[in-house]
Amino acid sequence: MRPPRALIFTAQMDFLRPKKPRPDNDPGSSRDPRGLRRNPLVWIAVLGAIVLYTQMDGSLLGNLDDAQRPVVQLTDVGGPFTLTDHHGRAVTDQDYRGRYMLIYFGYGWCPDVCPTELLVMSQAVDLLGDAGAQVEPIFITVDPARDTVESLANYVVNFHPRLTALTGSEAQISAVAGAYKVYFAKGEELDAVDDYVVDHTDIMYFMGPDGALLEYFQTGWRPVDIAQTIGQHL
Ligand code: NI
Repeated sequence: MRPPRALIFTAQMDFLRPKKPRPDNDPGSSRDPRGLRRNPLVWIAVLGAIVLYTQMDGSLLGNLDDAQRPVVQLTDVGGPFTLTDHHGRAVTDQDYRGRYMLIYFGYGWCPDVCPTELLVMSQAVDLLGDAGAQVEPIFITVDPARDTVESLANYVVNFHPRLTALTGSEAQISAVAGAYKVYFAKGEELDAVDDYVVDHTDIMYFMGPDGALLEYFQTGWRPVDIAQTIGQHL
């Protein structure tokens, strides 16, 4: 089943925040799960999400096919950026005008979601065949401290041969993440200073030749469905 599209962008962006593990050994904490269950605000949020879902979808259980899927006009995702690619070259959004961008935000040390989604992205571009040449697969790091030009150059070879990885200063990354409404937060360091996870929004953005958002895809979209949806624009 495809994810409900309307829920995500019509809700508060808090819905995009990845779930964080809560401490089990701190029963007095306000983050304790039992405390959360007692908190009426939590239930208001849950019920609000359900109501929103049913209003937009008409059904809690029904599959969304193309005809049923609500049309959501998004005008505030995307925007200018200045970054550095995995060859060390300066890149701006203007360099992609006239071409389609398929963008995923994540980080090279991500253990599961990012590599999975980059493989999905790569397969989707390949499934487009010759038309896929118009689509630029792009990976933008939310962890510029570790995702240097050099490490990204080693990382991209695992995926599509045309995948471009972009990094930048913390300010540049914050700016582009803000433009795309991407949430990210560095977790606590584990065994070493550079050993940490980064929570981040998990959405693939498909941007048109003018830089405007055309489609977006969450985890669960199959490459064949992404390719079909993108192909309708090419
Ligand atoms: Ni990730």
